[in-house]
Amino acid sequence: MKRHRPLVQLSVVFLFGALFARPPQAAAQVTAATRDSLPWGVTMDMVKEGEAIFKGNGLCTTCHGSNAEGGVGPRLADNDWLQAKGSYLSILQVILTGVPESQSSTGTAMPARGGTKIDDAQVQSAAAYIWKTSHPESGDSLPPGVTPEMVKRGEQVFNGPGACALCHGSEATGLLGPDLTDDVWLDAKGEYKTIGRIIAEGISEKASTSGIAMPPRGGSDISASDIERVAAYVWYVSHR
Ligand code: HEC
Ligand code: HEC
Repeated sequence: MKRHRPLVQLSVVFLFGALFARPPQAAAQVTAATRDSLPWGVTMDMVKEGEAIFKGNGLCTTCHGSNAEGGVGPRLADNDWLQAKGSYLSILQVILTGVPESQSSTGTAMPARGGTKIDDAQVQSAAAYIWKTSHPESGDSLPPGVTPEMVKRGEQVFNGPGACALCHGSEATGLLGPDLTDDVWLDAKGEYKTIGRIIAEGISEKASTSGIAMPPRGGSDISASDIERVAAYVWYVSHR
């Protein structure tokens, strides 16, 4: 049920993006609105650290799977909850206290702190990571259909066969072509789909804001799926 609200939010954000694409200030506000949704007291640094704990000395992956997809313990990467209520604090509570067998809905217990000695700050970070993983539309997470693997491969395409770096620089911060890492858009509005379309079709000299054309696919012969990946990478670097 919870999923519907963010979808509406997203389309509102996109609508605003479409209406106010030009003034950079409006674009910045739109981005801020999508980013501000981490729970109070939670930072992206905590989310990052929490991922390392989840996959490292928290030993959470032994029961919940290497990407929280589930195993002996339930899947945590969605918004269905057995014990927690989906809020950051309820997730935090479950990790701190664990789940005794008598209260477990699956009959399997979860030891407090996963049975490890991670400290309170580490538990908070692990909770932040799980909150973020189960609320993928929040913060600077990826658009639907985009995976971290696509972003990674997209970076290789950008700097390799796509030849994008020639015009946009190896960090995508711009050379002859514009900086793609900010949220100022000449043509793309910051949307994943539009970014992909622009990469596929290019920008004619006539349509170009700067008067400089961008050839379709940057003039390369990358495949349709590499276009999606490089679009995922551009989306990612512009929403960090
Ligand atoms: C020994 C296996 C095991 C380990 C290790 C473990 N868990 Fe769990 N965890 C479970 C089980 C089983 C449940 C579900 C209990 C139930 O069925 O009600 C659970 C539930 C949870 C929940 C609540 C999920 C929900 O649907 O409400 C969270 C959050 C959670 N674990 C996080 C963690 C974190 C973070 C770690 C690492 C610090 C961790 N777990 C380590 C077995 C484990
Ligand atoms: C020959 C130089 C050149 C190459 C190669 C090139 N681009 Fe571009 N790109 C441009 C220019 C110039 C613009 C801006 C046109 C304008 O001023 O409106 C642009 C715009 C864009 C935009 C829209 C940016 C915005 O602000 O709306 C995206 C996204 C983009 N390029 C991605 C890519 C990707 C990905 C590749 C590689 C597959 C690539 N470009 C290759 C020159 C290039």
